[in-house]
Amino acid sequence: MILAIETSCDDSAVALLDLEGNVLANEISSQVQLHEKYGGVVPELASRSHLQTLPLLIRHVLTTHQISLKDLTFIAATSSPGLVGSLLIGVSYAKTLAWTAGIPLIPVDHLEGHLLAPFLDNPDLAFPYLGLIVSGGHTHLIQVNQLGNYTLIGKTLDDAAGEAFDKVAKMTGFKYPGGPIIDKISQECEFPSISFPIPLRSKKVMNFSYAGLKTAVRNHALKEGLYVTDKKLIGYEEFKTWPENSTKDRIRDIFASFQKTVAETLAIRCNQALKVTGLNRLALTGGVAANSEIKTRLQEIANKRKSSFHFPSLRNCTDNAAMIGYTALQYWKQNSNHGLDLSLNASSKSPLNQMEVTPLLPD
Ligand code: KG4
Ligand code: ZN
Repeated sequence: MILAIETSCDDSAVALLDLEGNVLANEISSQVQLHEKYGGVVPELASRSHLQTLPLLIRHVLTTHQISLKDLTFIAATSSPGLVGSLLIGVSYAKTLAWTAGIPLIPVDHLEGHLLAPFLDNPDLAFPYLGLIVSGGHTHLIQVNQLGNYTLIGKTLDDAAGEAFDKVAKMTGFKYPGGPIIDKISQECEFPSISFPIPLRSKKVMNFSYAGLKTAVRNHALKEGLYVTDKKLIGYEEFKTWPENSTKDRIRDIFASFQKTVAETLAIRCNQALKVTGLNRLALTGGVAANSEIKTRLQEIANKRKSSFHFPSLRNCTDNAAMIGYTALQYWKQNSNHGLDLSLNASSKSPLNQMEVTPLLPD
C-alpha cells in the first residue's frame, strides 16, 4: 500500500493506492473558503491550514480503510514546486511517518504528477504523447517521451492560463478560484460577441501568453463599467440570484468571450504541436482541464489530427494526491531500491519548469 501526500498550494490531499496503481482513497480538504474572499491564495494562511488539517486527514484515510503504518510499502509526497511553506508541512509530515514506519519516502514533482495524471482514468493512454498542463501556476506543452524523459516544447511567457481565469474573475468582482465560476457563467452565453486578441497568433513558436489578453479584458471591463476593485467578491450562487438585466448579460458575454479565446490559444498550439511532432495522443491535465469548452475544443483538434484525446476525471484534474502516488509508483516499479532521505528539502522550483524550451519551429 502507498500513502501519498500533496500540500503544494491550498489543498491538503491524501491518497491510498495499492501497488497495482488502483486508487483506494483520494481525499481532498479544500481551503477555498479560507482564500476566496482575498481573490487568491494567501501563503501564510495556506501553510497554517495544512498544519492543522493534514494529520487529521491522514488519520481519517488510514482509519477508514483500516490501514496501519505497517501496511505501507512507501510514502510519496510532493516536494516541488509550489508555496514553500505549504510544501514543508507535507514533506516534514511524510518524513516523520516514513521514519516512524521504517519505510522509504519518494519525493514527487507536482508538475510531473499532473503530467501523468491522465493515466489514472485512461488505461489506454501510452507513451509517447503530447501533454498540456494548464493550471493556476503553469501552462506547459510537453512531449512526454517516457517516464522521466520529457521535452518542453512551449510554455507561458507570463501568466498561466488558470491565473488568467482567476484574475479576470477577480477584476469583475468574483471569488477565487475564478475558473469554475467563469466556466459556469460562460455556459449561459450562447453567442460570445467580444473578439479579444489571440495572443501570439502570428508566431510560429509554441509558447503561450495571457498577460495581454488579461489587459484586453480589463480594458473592456473598464469601458463597460464592470471593473471593480473594492467590492465584496461573490460566487456563482450569488450571481444566480441577480435579477436578469444587461449587467448580468454583459458579464456572461465577457466571460464567454474570454474563455473562448483561451480555448482557441490552446487549440492552436495543440494542433501545431501534434502536426510538428507527429504524435497521435493528446493529454490535457491540470486544474484548467476541468473546463468544458477547452475539453470540447481540444477534442475537435484531436479528431481533426486523427489523435486520441485523454483527460483526467474532475477529481484528478485539480490538485490531488492520487497523481502523486501514481507517479511515485512508476519510479518504484523501475527501481524499488528507494530509501528515506532525511535531509530532503522542499523547493518552489520544478525541474520541468527549469527546462529550456526546445523550439520545434523557427520563430
Ligand atoms: O492544478 P490546480 O488545482 O492547482 C495548481 O496547481 O495551480 O489548478 C487550479 C486552477 C485555478 O486557476 C482554477 O481557477 C482553475 O485551475 N480551474 C479552472 C476550472 N476549474 C479549475 N479553470 C477553468 N475552468 C474550470 N472549470
Ligand atoms: Zn496543480
